[in-house]
Amino acid sequence: MSKQGKINKITTSVVQRMKTDGEKISMLTAYDYSTAAVMDEAGVDMILVGDSLGMAVLGYDSTLPVTMEDMLHHTKPVSRAAKRAMVIGDMPFMSYQISVEEAVRNAGRFMKEAGAHGVKLEGGREVAEAVMKITSSGIPLMGHLGLTPQSVHQLGGYKVQGKDDKTAKKMMEDAKILEEAGAFSIVLECVPAPLAEKISKSLTIPTIGIGAGVGCDGQVLVVNDMLGMFEKFTPKFVKKYAKLNIDMRAAIEEYIGEVKDRKFPNEEHSF
Ligand code: KIV
Repeated sequence: MSKQGKINKITTSVVQRMKTDGEKISMLTAYDYSTAAVMDEAGVDMILVGDSLGMAVLGYDSTLPVTMEDMLHHTKPVSRAAKRAMVIGDMPFMSYQISVEEAVRNAGRFMKEAGAHGVKLEGGREVAEAVMKITSSGIPLMGHLGLTPQSVHQLGGYKVQGKDDKTAKKMMEDAKILEEAGAFSIVLECVPAPLAEKISKSLTIPTIGIGAGVGCDGQVLVVNDMLGMFEKFTPKFVKKYAKLNIDMRAAIEEYIGEVKDRKFPNEEHSF
């Protein structure tokens, strides 16, 4: 039995029902077994193994260098940890853009090799054929509109999207196209709150917002951001629920001091 009580396993029909019932959907990113296990026990609905892996874990300055092998390697332990949460594998840059065949093959690898319950990819009209083919192969697919980090160089930086009428209209059209192509939900990233709410209300499938206001059907944050693991840059849309960076540093400094002073290990920690 989950912390929430009723539901044991989150599936596409459960998140669809949540939207219909007006229950908000919670999603977080995770990249390893122990973090995903804590999240799953806490009752998070969906776990995204995001290609934010590139920045959060691998030390890159964008998501572009992340490979299929990186993503599968980190999705496997998350899938092993998740007993209740639905696990979504994020398709990395160039794993679905080259051809529909490659997109389907790579989406299938997340399910067959990494135990994911669905995949996510970025874009609207331009990926509609791939979305159709992936979903008609029986693979649940989450879309991603607004700020799509794999296109950061085309977008000219990490900026709010859909601020003028033309781009807002295009985003609305793209959302409809993804829904019609079979997506079971859509991430809206860095989108003005009124536009995100309008899109959410016009779709039957749930939207998951990040920097897109409270009108979305659910929310997602990058776990390293919300746990306060980075000291430096914090995007406006991130709320830090902990200051792990400070706690980790203090613990490590204490450990170093005790090793130097011969206080650790003491008899309690020795055989
Ligand atoms: O890669 C990621 O973590 C994401 C979320 C920010 C939605 O795509």
